[in-house]
Amino acid sequence: MELNKDIDQFDIPLAKRTYLNNPNSTLLKKLLIFSPFLFLIFSIAALRFIKNVELIPLNNLNFEVKRNHDVRIFGHLPYKETPIEKLVLIEPNIEVHIDMRDSLLKMREEAKKDGIYLVFLSGYRSINLQNDIFYSLKSIRNQEAAERARVSAPPGYSEHSTGFAIDIGDATQRDTDFETDFENTDAFKWLIKNAAKFHFKLSFNKDNKYIDYEPWHWRYEGSIEALEVFESANIKL
Ligand code: DAL
Ligand code: ZN
Repeated sequence: MELNKDIDQFDIPLAKRTYLNNPNSTLLKKLLIFSPFLFLIFSIAALRFIKNVELIPLNNLNFEVKRNHDVRIFGHLPYKETPIEKLVLIEPNIEVHIDMRDSLLKMREEAKKDGIYLVFLSGYRSINLQNDIFYSLKSIRNQEAAERARVSAPPGYSEHSTGFAIDIGDATQRDTDFETDFENTDAFKWLIKNAAKFHFKLSFNKDNKYIDYEPWHWRYEGSIEALEVFESANIKL
């Protein structure tokens, strides 16, 4: 007995335990169990929200670029070089897009029947050639880029690289080749009256703000490919 009493002195009382058995504790328990799922759901919702917020301005931006024609340089639209397999030779030095060959030759034939002699001056031009035309002449003539661009497209921006553009002169008045005076020739007057029958359109007319008037430069719009190529050019600024 004496020994037990002594031992009792050293007894450590049991820790008091509180059990979560009230309604608030049950709710807390449930929350703890479901918290990983709730975290997952909120994360997915947040990600979707962020994605939408990011996409909306980007879509608007693309729209703005198209609407404002920001892709132009000094008023010239960008054009890809047509692949060589789509080019055909129509004169010793003149290649054009195969889609436009028949129509172009037919136009020359029909003009001839009316006593008008069309001469082809320049058709397809590679981007390399356009580079030389733009920069070499710019340098020789001591011109600034903006000034040069009024009469010549920068490389990668010429309708000639598509193979769908043709510069036309009057075989009876060669002094008007590439001159504004070409507008006074019979060839030009005939073209104004008849070119649309053959799906040709004057590219740079007098109301172009950026590029000088070129009565000799015509583009072909008689195939879906050509219409796609010139879709932006046909939107009025
Ligand atoms: N002369 C026209 C603008 C061109 O270079 O394509
Ligand atoms: Zn031209």
